[in-house]
Amino acid sequence: MKLKKPVISVAPMVDKTDRYFRNFVRMINKDVLLYTEMVTAQAIIHGDLERILGFDEAEHPIALQIAATTPEDAYKAVKTAENYAYDEINLNVGCPSDRVSGNMMGACLMAYPELVLDILKAIKEATGKAVTIKHRIGIDGKGILPDNAEKTLFDKYEDMLNFINIIEKAGADRYTVHARIAVLAGLDPKQNREVPPLRYDEVYRLKAEKPYMQIEINGGIKTKEDITEHLKYVDGVMIGREFYDNPMLLAEVNSFYNNGEENISRYQVLEKMIPYLEKMEMNNERTHLFLRHTLGLFHNVKGSKYWKNSISSQNLKNNKGSLIIREILKNSKECEI
Ligand SMILES: Cc1cc2nc3c(=O)[nH]c(=O)nc-3n(C[C@H](O)[C@H](O)[C@H](O)COP(=O)(O)O)c2cc1C
Repeated sequence: MKLKKPVISVAPMVDKTDRYFRNFVRMINKDVLLYTEMVTAQAIIHGDLERILGFDEAEHPIALQIAATTPEDAYKAVKTAENYAYDEINLNVGCPSDRVSGNMMGACLMAYPELVLDILKAIKEATGKAVTIKHRIGIDGKGILPDNAEKTLFDKYEDMLNFINIIEKAGADRYTVHARIAVLAGLDPKQNREVPPLRYDEVYRLKAEKPYMQIEINGGIKTKEDITEHLKYVDGVMIGREFYDNPMLLAEVNSFYNNGEENISRYQVLEKMIPYLEKMEMNNERTHLFLRHTLGLFHNVKGSKYWKNSISSQNLKNNKGSLIIREILKNSKECEI
């Protein structure tokens, strides 16, 4: 499937960007690039594939994000995932979690560019799809990288450039750069998305020095105006938390694609939910699994409390989600829809 330009994507987020949330996004925006949650290569090699990799036709364009420690694992996992029609395979070199870096995955791999090069090459060998990478501008690996490592601090622009100079031999189709370093020991994953300062200029500089590369910027981006500003310097913009907390931003983003959906209303989104929820109910799936991702639908407008309360798991216990939405549509004066 051809990706529309500019690339604007919904960041991979564990426990958030599951198939339910991704279907919710599609009720508001059909063109942004979606990502799965990060899946380890080992989980794919040994796991329940349909549960881990299954997705709906409506979710295209969609990238599968994997984390891998060795080229062999990456190759096996991506070969296995070939049975699923993902549009793109993305390698995670940005996750700071101890559990992930302790296993030599995620952001700590920035200290081992030759290994990342081999992993990317293995992925390219396993698939003809687009292969992309998500990484940080740098890492502080003190306390996680071996004590006898030549160097543990990679926080200068030149460190990122050195990393890119080596891995670019694999010819990745896009580089998504989270514009802050990851501190592998001492900061938890949440702090690692907030404490190290954002350094957008270094991502812009990378694009200026390597104009032939597709560069996407990520980190702290919140508005349509922010997106417009970043697109002056780079090819794409990835947003995580703001899309999740304020999903109607996805409606505004339709304007970048001229697809006529910019003014989609909350009322229309609620209408689209009904058949989806009815299908879940028919399959005996708990509608809470979907509705829990929609809490932000009335972000900063009248009715937010009413909405959250209506779809709280307590209210869903005795009622089907689809019936609750029908009820809300009837009583629409409670919320700004
Ligand atoms: C709850 C949560 C889970 C995340 N899980 C992943 C993940 O699985 N893979 C990944 O590359 N980044 C993950 N991230 C990081 C985001 O993809 C993104 O890089 C980060 O949130 C910064 O972007 P933002 O400021 O737009 O949210 C996660 C972030 C959050 C908030």
